[in-house]
Amino acid sequence: MSKSTLLVFCFFLFSLPPLCCSSSPSEEVNALLQLKKEFDDPFNYLDSWKVTDSPCSFYGVSCDNQTGQVIQISLDYNSLTGKISPAVSALDSLQSLIIPSNFISGELPASIVNCTHLRVLNASSNNITGPLPDLSKLINLEVLDISDNYFAGKFPAWVGSNLSCTNRIIRSHRRPWLALPRKAIM
Ligand SMILES: *[C@@H]1O[C@H](CO)[C@@H](O)[C@H](O)[C@H]1NC(C)=O
Ligand SMILES: *[C@@H]1O[C@H](CO)[C@@H](O)[C@H](O)[C@H]1NC(C)=O
Ligand SMILES: *[C@@H]1O[C@H](CO)[C@@H](O)[C@H](O)[C@H]1NC(C)=O
Ligand SMILES: *[C@@H]1O[C@H](CO)[C@@H](O)[C@H](O)[C@H]1NC(C)=O
Ligand SMILES: *[C@@H]1O[C@H](CO)[C@@H](O)[C@H](O)[C@H]1NC(C)=O
Repeated sequence: MSKSTLLVFCFFLFSLPPLCCSSSPSEEVNALLQLKKEFDDPFNYLDSWKVTDSPCSFYGVSCDNQTGQVIQISLDYNSLTGKISPAVSALDSLQSLIIPSNFISGELPASIVNCTHLRVLNASSNNITGPLPDLSKLINLEVLDISDNYFAGKFPAWVGSNLSCTNRIIRSHRRPWLALPRKAIM
């Protein structure tokens, strides 16, 4: 391989997008549009969520400055009804899902365990029903606030007994916040 071929090759190599493990912008847009579709948004807060735009410009959505990936969804007090789409699981860089104080119903989709970078899940003060999915795989979870909903079923064993994630947090001197359901029948 000549020097110039090598240069071109290296240039090509470095101009490729990062290969590993992350969802592409279009997958992220698709996931966000699925979320939008399953929410009812009487005040049109989600009007800026359009297929033609970068998800980073969507209302309530924040991206990582370096990677450009969606890391936060923050939609509190937006009068949203409807459900949380299981498509949220495609947002695999998501660190914060902050959707409190709406009227969201349905279940918390179990697919959320695929958002392995999730640190904050605040879904407090909604109308979410059903069992709480097993979130024990979310080892980065620091804040889980599901208070003031209608979760039902047995109090999940993983919250009380297998606090591997919590232990990890305590060891790193971060205090976990586990706000338990007030309305819930556990
Ligand atoms: C990203 O950039 C914005 C604007 O420059 C800045 O305000 C924000 O703090 C940055 N966030 C991070 C996580 O670096
Ligand atoms: C949410 O729950 C409250 C209290 O039970 C109820 O009045 C309201 O109609 C529910 N809203 C929706 C959108 O489900
Ligand atoms: C999580 O992702 C894996 C691999 O993409 C998939 O097979 C699995 O069904 C997903 N889990 C859920 C609960 O969606
Ligand atoms: C969750 O959001 C509500 C509404 O903004 C806020 O009052 C509450 O403190 C949050 N929970 C945590 C644990 O930060
Ligand atoms: C508890 O957490 C550990 C470490 O993540 C895991 O290997 C184990 O399977 C978990 N046990 C239960 C009962 O979920």
